[in-house]
Amino acid sequence: MDLFSGLAAKIKGQNKTIVFPEGEDERILGAAIRLQNDGLLTPVLLGEKNQIKATADKNGFDLTNVQIIDPKEYPDADKQAMLDALVERRKGKNTPEQAAEMLKDVSYFGTMLVYMHKVDGMVSGAVHPTGDTVRPALQIIKTKPGSKRISGAFIMQKGDQRFVFADCAINIELDAPAMAEVAVQSATTAKLFDIDPKVALLSFSTKGSAKGEMVTKVADAAKMAHELAPDLPLDGELQFDAAFVESVGAQKAPGSAVAGHANVFVFPDLQSGNIGYKIAQRLGGFEAVGPILQGLNAPVSDLSRGCNEEDVYKVSLITAAQSVE
Ligand SMILES: CC(C)(COP(=O)(O)OP(=O)(O)OC[C@H]1O[C@@H](n2cnc3c(N)ncnc32)[C@H](O)[C@@H]1OP(=O)(O)O)[C@@H](O)C(=O)NCCC(=O)NCCS
Repeated sequence: MDLFSGLAAKIKGQNKTIVFPEGEDERILGAAIRLQNDGLLTPVLLGEKNQIKATADKNGFDLTNVQIIDPKEYPDADKQAMLDALVERRKGKNTPEQAAEMLKDVSYFGTMLVYMHKVDGMVSGAVHPTGDTVRPALQIIKTKPGSKRISGAFIMQKGDQRFVFADCAINIELDAPAMAEVAVQSATTAKLFDIDPKVALLSFSTKGSAKGEMVTKVADAAKMAHELAPDLPLDGELQFDAAFVESVGAQKAPGSAVAGHANVFVFPDLQSGNIGYKIAQRLGGFEAVGPILQGLNAPVSDLSRGCNEEDVYKVSLITAAQSVE
């Protein structure tokens, strides 16, 4: 089954609701209506009703049964409840005046709908830069219990080959505990896509072949990840070839449960992770699906501003599937 049919099967019948703060954008609107018509999820569009209607008319979209919320027309009692919840959540960090200001921003409004369980997830970023989508989620939804940080993974796929690469999007630096968390989160993401995870924590060294602080960090991260998830097949530190190529793995890391067979690759920092996924994409011909935010207490996904309607559709499937898990 292809990647997205698998996700569609997971969410069908689950009655998941996803909020789209950029409801006036035609790519968002087109994807949201298709998702609704395909019976996969219920979209909630944020924006000015007249503006959304104008975009729908221009593109021949049928808005029947599509739920639209204009934040400016949100009932006073609901507005107050949202403000109270935000003030409480941001206690000591933002004043009530700042919280009221924040709610004028559709990304914060949408994030609050997720936080208050009015919807199951949020998809945004077709118009807004990454920080505008991710920051409210970090500040309000925060991480899953037991998790200290979120990270960003890409599913790399070509034909029937599927791999997870992380963190390629969020944490600029990772210490050993952070890298261990990314390893465990990435295994969860792998399962979402029916990948049976074998996790490699990557370095320029395999099992002590080189020395130094950077190598120690990755080896320590592997130990910590093992403590966090004792049943998860993982190993590190491994070079990419030892992780991926069976003969090299057997030679450089004999006896490893992962070397030579890894399908989840955890990078030691954002620099290597971001470069790594783009090399696989551009030189290796892999499709890069993501970034998929992992570790958040409820799913929020960031689109690329260069996205098209199909990208919005696919990212929404991922977001809804994360909320099922
Ligand atoms: C994601 C990002 C935008 C957050 O930036 P920011 O808003 O400046 O972050 P701040 O440090 O001010 O933190 C804001 C809040 O998020 C939290 N936070 C930041 N990073 C976090 C993480 N990785 N996990 C969990 N929480 C995090 C902070 O604790 C803080 O919470 P608080 O307000 O309740 O104290 C930033 O990490 C970033 O720019 N990362 C790199 C993104 C990038 O360029 N990627 C490459 C291209 S895809």
